[in-house]
Amino acid sequence: MCGIIGCVGREDETLDVLVHGLSKLEYRGYDSAGVALSGDRVDVCKKSGKIEDLRGALEPRSIGGAAGIGHTRWSTHGPPTDANAHPHLDCTGDVAVVHNGIIENYQSLRDELATAGHTFKSDTDTEVVPHLVEDALADGADNEGAVREAISRLDGSYAVAVVVSGDDTIYAARNDSPLVLGIDDDSYYLASDVPAFRDFTDRVVYLADGEFATLSADGWRVSDVDGATVDKDVDTVDWDPEETGKSGYDHFMLKEINEQPRAIRQCLRGRVDEMAAEVDIGDLGDLSPTGVQFVACGTSYHAALYGAQLLRDAGIPAHAFLASEYATAVPPIGDALVVGVTQSGETADTLSALREARKRGARTLAVTNTVGSTAARECDHALYIRAGPEIGVAASKTFASQLAALNLFSLGTTRADGRRDSIGALRDLPSNIQAILDDSRAEAVAEEYVDSDAYFFIGRGLQYPVALEGALKMKEITYKHAEGFAAGELKHGPLALVTGETPVFAVVTGDGEMARKTIGNVKEVEARDAPVVAVTDGQSDVERYADEVLRVPETHPQAAAVLANVQLQLVSYYVADELGRSIDKPRNLAKSVTVE
Ligand code: F6R
Repeated sequence: MCGIIGCVGREDETLDVLVHGLSKLEYRGYDSAGVALSGDRVDVCKKSGKIEDLRGALEPRSIGGAAGIGHTRWSTHGPPTDANAHPHLDCTGDVAVVHNGIIENYQSLRDELATAGHTFKSDTDTEVVPHLVEDALADGADNEGAVREAISRLDGSYAVAVVVSGDDTIYAARNDSPLVLGIDDDSYYLASDVPAFRDFTDRVVYLADGEFATLSADGWRVSDVDGATVDKDVDTVDWDPEETGKSGYDHFMLKEINEQPRAIRQCLRGRVDEMAAEVDIGDLGDLSPTGVQFVACGTSYHAALYGAQLLRDAGIPAHAFLASEYATAVPPIGDALVVGVTQSGETADTLSALREARKRGARTLAVTNTVGSTAARECDHALYIRAGPEIGVAASKTFASQLAALNLFSLGTTRADGRRDSIGALRDLPSNIQAILDDSRAEAVAEEYVDSDAYFFIGRGLQYPVALEGALKMKEITYKHAEGFAAGELKHGPLALVTGETPVFAVVTGDGEMARKTIGNVKEVEARDAPVVAVTDGQSDVERYADEVLRVPETHPQAAAVLANVQLQLVSYYVADELGRSIDKPRNLAKSVTVE
């Protein structure tokens, strides 16, 4: 969950490029940051805190070099201190290393190196790497050979980049942690994710596990573990650098909430034929699963719950599992398709669940936002949600796009009744979301309830995952207590928590039995003096029991869930804003969680 950046070929701009790249990667982790540049010697500057703290530490120093690497850290081994920040050096100070992932055998390597006389300055697993390189150099290996030798000793997950003094080359390798190269005419980049260098180039090369890259001002090369050159495709990313800027919004999250109409349009583009009531998701349409097991974490798990409900409604047995639970207690799979829902495609828990499923012979599908991600590459199939880059740590537009993509998946692989209505509702989603964005009362509701003790969210059926997601968003960005419940569960215990200081957000759309029953639950909380905020399309009479109403346009139930979620995203956003929280980078959280 750290972020890596590297740059060669920019002469005296290397440092600026690195710091710029780190600021674009801060969403991956932000408890410390550092850079190393190699010229005649290796110069390192690193600091606990945010990129701004690193900038402050760099100011009085003159640090330069033709090849540079940088790192933004989210701690896994050792607290966020200057010493534990990357890059890490060997004993001679000639080898600097940045790393993302976890080196599982670091303790035995460290013991071995310590016995051989190496001294360590940090608590990190990473620090063994420069010392291993140092040993290999002392044994006579050239720089590339020494890095390869060090990498061959590592067990675990890593994206590693190394510079050595007197050498304007970056050496890099990956296993189970993302690494992508950026290719320009005479400068080259590497990073954990494209936004780090997207301002400089749109040409990218995705490294696969086991691959090794060398980048110098003369060019780039990717090789396999034996050193044989691997022919790599150079892809072009199709989004603009401005897409990773805030475009005038106060926060990335608000920008990304507002981007949802466009994100969903992109997700649907070319995949929906309304006249024929058909959906085209390529060969995925031939999958015709007889059963589906979803695996996912966090917000993506809420999307998975929604997807499972959609498929069950279409007559397919389907269940959503928390990936971390699935990976350690794999249920009987039979001939089910196992679907990983993961916007990053790099979440360790989800990858691990998918791998366990594959080990048992299951077919797998990744529903992801990230082309070239590990999930996309390892699964038999990938369905891209096409949301564009999401920088805010709390997922917003990727959740909406996941829901849209799961609708496509359900429509594309099953033949349930009512397809025409579902497809029409999908088509209308962007304009319906826009209508909410243009006219939401969420900010006023947030102002009214900002001082509450806790927030509860209830919903049934497809609105149950929305209630869970509403609560997760509230927790993540406001740091306030929030819980989501299946509406019918409230009376089985949680009702004891409900007081006049705990607003209950009730998601009630349609006017059928589900709405009627949820209104029954609303009356239960109303009787305990809890303020009720109804998120509703106005079809039922829930508003009679509500203190506040957040309206969504009337539509198909599948689309209503996406719409209700937009209102809840906005409420959380404005409560967090009122409280002055670090909305785009909530404390303790990282965008991409690459450890189990
Ligand atoms: C919450 C959030 C996380 C992620 C979870 C899985 O706002 O973003 O809960 O949903 O860490 O991440 P992905 O989807 O990348 O697998």
